[in-house]
Formats: sequence, C-alpha cells, structure tokens
Amino acid sequence: MKSAAVLATNDAGRTAIALEVLSRMKGMDLEAKPSLKSAVMKVLESTRGTTNFVKIVQDFKLKDQNPGLFEVAVKNPAEETGVEAMRMILASRDLKLVTEGLTGTNVTTAVQTAEVLGNTADKEIVPLLLPVVMDVQRDVAVRKQAVRSLVRVQEGAAELLKMAKEDKLPNDVKLTASMELNGVRWANLKAEAAKVLPLPQGRNTEPLPPVIELLKVKGDVARGSQVFARQEVGCINCHRINDKGNEVGPALSEIGTKLGRDAIYEAILDPSAGISFGFEAWQIELKSGDEPFGLIVSETADELTMKDTKAIVTRIKKSDIVKRQQMKTSIMPTGLQQTMSTQDLIDLVEYLGSLKKAAQ
Ligand code: HEC
Repeated sequence: MKSAAVLATNDAGRTAIALEVLSRMKGMDLEAKPSLKSAVMKVLESTRGTTNFVKIVQDFKLKDQNPGLFEVAVKNPAEETGVEAMRMILASRDLKLVTEGLTGTNVTTAVQTAEVLGNTADKEIVPLLLPVVMDVQRDVAVRKQAVRSLVRVQEGAAELLKMAKEDKLPNDVKLTASMELNGVRWANLKAEAAKVLPLPQGRNTEPLPPVIELLKVKGDVARGSQVFARQEVGCINCHRINDKGNEVGPALSEIGTKLGRDAIYEAILDPSAGISFGFEAWQIELKSGDEPFGLIVSETADELTMKDTKAIVTRIKKSDIVKRQQMKTSIMPTGLQQTMSTQDLIDLVEYLGSLKKAAQ
C-alpha cells in the first residue's frame, strides 16, 4: 500500500488509492470519527460528478449530498449510477432540486430529470410528473418524457388513463400516451387504454392474415432491418443485433439459424408462448410498496440483481423484499404487430430469418 501511495504522484492516482482504502471501510460510522469524516469528505469532493461520488454517499450513508447526486442523475438518466443517485434523492424526501430541474427553463435538464425519475420506477414520481404532463405552458418535449416515465409505474399509468377518460389529457401528449399505455404490462390498464386511447390508425388498419399466408410472401431484408430499428416498433430497445441495440431479451444476431420464419412469426405475435430459459419475467414486491419488474440476472445470499425493460440494472437487498413472483407472460409485449403494417412485419421476419451464423 505504502509504495503505491508514493508512486501516486498525480491527483487521479491519489484518488484511486483513496477510493480503494475507502471501499474497505464501507459502512463505518463516520460521525464518531471526525478526522476520518473530513478525509472522506475530501475524497468525495474530488469524485464529484462521477459514479464514485454516488458509491461513497451510499457506502457511508452521507447526508445532504443531493446537489452532487442530482448532478450525476441528470447526466446519466439511463445508467445504473444515475438511477441509483435519483433513488437516494427520492429517499431523502428533499425534492427541491428535482422540482427545480423539472420546472426550470433548461429543457434538456428537465427532460433528463423526467427520464431518470421514470427509470427509478418508484411510485413517488407520480405526484412529481403528473402536474408536468398537465401543464400546457411547459415544453412539450418535457411533457412527453413525463408521460413515458409515468407509465413505468402502475399508479402513473392509471392516473394518465384516468385523465384521458375524463378528457383532461392535453392533445399534444395524447399520441405519446396512446403508444405508451397500449404497451403497458398491466392487462386491465392495457385493455382500457385500447378503448380510451386507441392506437392511431394507419400503421395497421387491416387485420393480420394467418401466418401460413404471411409465409408465402417474400419480404425485403433491407427494409426489415429499418423496421427493426424503428423506435415505435421497439425491438432495438430490447434486442441486440451485432453491435446495435440493448440486451434485455436474447441477442438476435444469429436468430435465423435458431428459428425458422414460422417460429419467428410466433415469437413476435405470441411472445409468451415459449419463453426462453433465463429470460423469465419477475415481479418483486418491496417493503416500500414499489414493484420492480424485469429479469433476475444474478442472485447472492443477500442481494438480487435485476434488469428492467430499459436494460437498467438495479441491486435489491433481499431484506427489502416482501414477495417475488414469476410472471407467466414474457417481458416482450404482445401486440407489437400493431405498431407496423403487414408488409413491415413480413420484411422484419425476412430480415431476422436472414441472420445466420457465419459458415465456419
Ligand atoms: C421489452 C423488451 C422486448 C421488446 C420490445 C421486444 N422483445 Fe423480443 N424478446 C424479449 C425477451 C425478454 C425475450 C425472451 C423471452 C421470451 O422468449 O419471451 C424475447 C424473445 C424474442 C425472440 C425469440 C428469441 C429466441 O432466441 O428464441 C424473438 C425472435 C424476438 N424476441 C423478436 C423481437 C422482435 C422482432 C421485436 C420487435 C417487433 C421484439 N422482439 C421486441 C424482449 C423484448
């Protein structure tokens, strides 16, 4: 240790060593040791804006660190570290910075604040975001993000649906609300959304022919790859093909080797028919009342690591869990064909079928 300290003549090196030392003292009560506390605070200051800042605050349960946490949260709204930082802010109950971020004039900050709030999947976000959606004076980009974030929690989705039913939902967010609410995982809310806020007509008005008929039509591989990447279709948010896309579901880079076109149709039209091993969906009930949903990626004696539908990883203490339940339905939503035309679907399947393992 000593020789390493001597070698570390630059700031970065010193910080690295300090972090290493600190990680060994995790959980220690600093209040009883003022000199140690001031050393920790110094290291903390040098890590501002980084993942390590969040880790130190967490490890030593440091209080009043919301400004630094907020900085990391807004900068990394879709990363584990940013989401964890926002969870700590919500837990602190001091929401001044969050409200300021959401309502301030900086649209990027407001959008990212709304995004990271959604990624916490904490029901505390509902009273923060609902007024943003309803306030037509605010920038529409912020309000659309607030809609996308609200549907991450059941209470938020239910509130939006209620507003739509009472005809109070502002027009400029209706399309976003319709697309989001028609894709939620709560069957009753989804069914209600189909009635109250039906998906816009146009993409797919015609009823889908039977798969046997679809199989007779040859698709266009190049167009299919574009359909795959379309945001409103969403495949790319959950599947990686080569180096593009998130990994929530299995990578599809060689899916044409594993599945024939008929089986690919089935995987898209009826995702819950055969759920791939290791990709089962779980719903966890926490003491806080929150219900994280996603895949369990690993488990130790006292921790569960989950990945949600946005590929954000969260560690959950087992002591915080009331109940865990494996879902019979896939994380992959049903009805994805409704986000595209019949020809789009044919092209998409042609494309996926063409993705084969390179010949050895
Ligand atoms: C919210 C995440 C999500 C979205 C969106 C999604 N999928 Fe999936 N998909 C999954 C998961 C998780 C699985 C594995 C569980 C299962 O088999 O149902 C899966 C399985 C599959 C499989 C079977 C893979 C295998 O190895 O057997 C195919 C094919 C597939 N998806 C294609 C698509 C296509 C095409 C789209 C877009 C139209 C899409 N998925 C959208 C999450 C998603």
